[in-house]
Formats: sequence, C-alpha cells, structure tokens
Amino acid sequence: MLADKDRIFTNVYGFQPWNIGAAEARGDWDATNKLMEIGQDAIIDRVKASGLRGRGGAGFPTGVKWGFMPKEPKPDRPNFLVINADESEPGSCKDREIIRHDPHKLIEGALIAGFAMRARAAYIYIRGEYIREAEVLFAAIAEAYDRGYLGKNACGSGYDFDVFAHRGAGAYICGEETAMLESLEGKKGQPRLKPPFPAGAGLYGCPTTVNNVESIAVVPTILRRGPEWFSSFGRENNKGTKLFQISGHVEKPCVVEEAMSISFRELIETHCGGIRGGWDNLLAVIPGGSSVPLVPAAQIIDCPMDFDGLKELGSGLGTAAIIVMDKSTDIVRAISRLSYFYKHESCGQCTPCREGTGWMWRVMERMRTGDADIAEIDTLYEVTKQVEGHTICALGDAAAWPIQGLIRHFRPEMERRIVARRGGDVSPMQEAAE
Ligand SMILES: Cc1cc2nc3c(=O)[nH]c(=O)nc-3n(C[C@H](O)[C@H](O)[C@H](O)COP(=O)(O)O)c2cc1C
Ligand code: SF4
Repeated sequence: MLADKDRIFTNVYGFQPWNIGAAEARGDWDATNKLMEIGQDAIIDRVKASGLRGRGGAGFPTGVKWGFMPKEPKPDRPNFLVINADESEPGSCKDREIIRHDPHKLIEGALIAGFAMRARAAYIYIRGEYIREAEVLFAAIAEAYDRGYLGKNACGSGYDFDVFAHRGAGAYICGEETAMLESLEGKKGQPRLKPPFPAGAGLYGCPTTVNNVESIAVVPTILRRGPEWFSSFGRENNKGTKLFQISGHVEKPCVVEEAMSISFRELIETHCGGIRGGWDNLLAVIPGGSSVPLVPAAQIIDCPMDFDGLKELGSGLGTAAIIVMDKSTDIVRAISRLSYFYKHESCGQCTPCREGTGWMWRVMERMRTGDADIAEIDTLYEVTKQVEGHTICALGDAAAWPIQGLIRHFRPEMERRIVARRGGDVSPMQEAAE
C-alpha cells in the first residue's frame, strides 16, 4: 500500500479546507519561484525523467509532449496551455476531487507547466455539470492572483502568466482536445482533423498543449521531491502514483491514490473492502473508463493496473476509472447502455461514427433482448471494425471497443439469449451457416 508520506493529493477527501492558506500549509506554493529558477528546459527534462505519462487516457509521455512546443514563441503567436477538466468519460471522477478539494495543486502546476512550455496563459476547461467544482476553481484562481502567485511577475519569478477557467456546456466530445479548442474559441465543439497537431496550430491557431488535470497537478510535487522519487513507483514505462476511481459492485467504492502497477486484487482488497459477495462473485471489469474493452474476472484479478498490464489483456488503463461488475450484472444490457451513450455523444461529423453508433446501439438492444440472429453477432463485430480507425477522432474507437470486448468474452451469453428467445431453436440463418 502506498504510504501516506508518498501521497501527492493529501486532501483528496476534503478533510481539510481547499483554500490557499490550507493549501500552503500542505506545501503548495512553497517557493515556487525556486522551482522555476532551474529553467524551462530543465523542468521539461525532469518531467521526462519522472516517467509521467498523460493521465487523460492515452498515456502520452508528458515531458515529451511539452518538448514539441516552440522554444521561442513569436510575440503575435503566443504559446498556450489548455487543461482538460472535461471529465465526462463514464466512471471517471478523479479530476473533480482535485479541483474541489486540492485546486491549488492544479493552479501551481499550471504556472510551472506553462512556464516550462513558454506559454503566455493557461485555460482550464471544466465540464458544465461541475458547478460547485467550478465555483471552487474560480475562487482558488482569484486567491492565487491576490497573493501575486499569478499575473505579472508570477510568484516573483519575473515571468508573466495568467490562468483562466472556462465552463463547458455538457458535451462529452468537448473532452477531445481539438473539440475543446473549438469550444474555447466559441464555436461548436467538434474535433478537428489532425495534423496539424495542437503544438503546431492549436488555440486561436497558436501553439498549444492540452493536458489532463491530474497530469498537471502532479508536476509541482514531482519537482519538489525529484523525478527519481516519482519514478520509484510502478513498473518500467508505467511510473508514478495514480488516482484510481473504483465504482460498481465493490463494498466501498472510492477514489484513491496508489502506486501504478498495483494488482487489481490488492487495490480492491486494500481500499474497497473486497468484491460484493466475494471474489467468486466477480463477473467482469471495465478498467479504464467506459471506452476500454471489459476484462473477464479470471484475467484481471492478478493483473498489474497499469498501461502495459491492461494492454496485454486487450484493454487499457484509460483514466483508471475501474467499473466493477458482479454476477448480478446484465452484461449485455450494461454494454448496450454504453452504446447509447456514444450514440448520444457523437458529434455527427463523420459518417462511420454518426451512422455506426446509432446502428450499433440498435443492434445491441436486440442482443440484449435476444431478438437477433446468431449470425448478426459477427455482423455487429464487422461493423465495429468498420467504425474503429475510420473516423476523425477516437470517439468512434470508444464506441466500438466495449462491444468488441463483449463479443470476445461473452459471446456464449449473447447466443444463449438468442436461443432462449426462440424457445431453444437455432435460427434458420444459423442452420444454413452450419
Ligand atoms: C471523445 C474523447 C473524450 C475525451 N475526454 C477527455 C476528458 O474528459 N479529459 C481528458 O483529460 N482527456 C480526454 N480525452 C483525451 C484528450 O483528447 C487528450 O488526449 C488529453 O486531454 C491529453 O492530456 P494528457 O496528455 O495529460 O493525458 C478525450 C478524448 C476523446 C477522443
Ligand atoms: S468520430 Fe464521431 S465524435 Fe469524433 S469527429 Fe467523428 S463524428 Fe464526431
């Protein structure tokens, strides 16, 4: 178990106030200018050395991403940092805990990260439904300005830096980085074709880095305690501590900071009081937020919860939002409900996603009730393959993968329903196929 002394988010449960006085007592804003004195490239090098990989889902190395930003921005084309607080992926609920209980970690991180990538300002894009969280964020930013930690000569560092918070209006797709940039610019939040990537042409056409809240909020502690400290947790290529969010059929659902690569069993036993009804009652787990394929019980129990461990199982760490399902779960219905979510959230720009998400959901509903033909399971799988990788953004993949996971691991259950619905007879199509 991660020792308390090694926790970055010491107020994640809100036992103490979030305000700047309490944050300073926890060590935030302590000689921030000294952290900045080491210089912009040295900060980037240390973040690279820490092994930090993006906490927004894709796991791209954070320091490497910062290194893509121009080192000498032109006066009329400033660099920008955009912080992704959209957190709309079903199951994900960690960034809100940082914002409402420990916002100064994020704001201090914004200054340091922004300075390192030569940004003029940071924009924190927070999902519209996070009303109380946004109130805290706005108030915390105002506190930081009052103390002189932001604005001209931020923290006495000689560097001018602004932080703005911007509220979204409740669209999942605005969490995709280029849709977020469109939305920030006041347009409809629809993803842009890449390239150009945001580091080349991002917000208002200027070089931009988009990072997740957690990726930015851990940076001050990494610099204070050293990259070696951070990289002492987790396996090679999967370093650091991580906020896991465990929901569903465990005794005590929670958000908890743990070392990367902790096994699923240890995570659940130590922090969640075990599986509801015991380990034999575990059916399957969606380990990284709703976009990643589910993993059946037997495969996940001893799996290291990290990028590589879950990739080996054909799934992913995603945002580390772990949805636990016991044997009372109607697994086909659960995945069908996710299909409905993706159909609802498709921005409609590309045909495979716009048409495919609706089609997949409608077929999934028939799979749920058994009003389908067994041969349609293969057709459904084929269609997910036609959507995956054929769209502008990864929402298409996110809609395809949960269904693929279901078919891969629970095909007998899908067939059972169809056969049961027919009163035990196989369908004419199936007979023909055999
Ligand atoms: C449909 C969709 C929704 C996304 N939603 C979020 C989100 O809510 N929060 C987030 O940090 N990243 C989200 N992402 C990933 C972002 O595009 C981007 O990769 C991430 O913010 C980069 O931050 P990181 O490098 O710190 O992980 C989403 C991606 C897609 C395709
Ligand atoms: S994949 Fe879907 S959500 Fe993404 S751009 Fe295309 S239509 Fe929009």
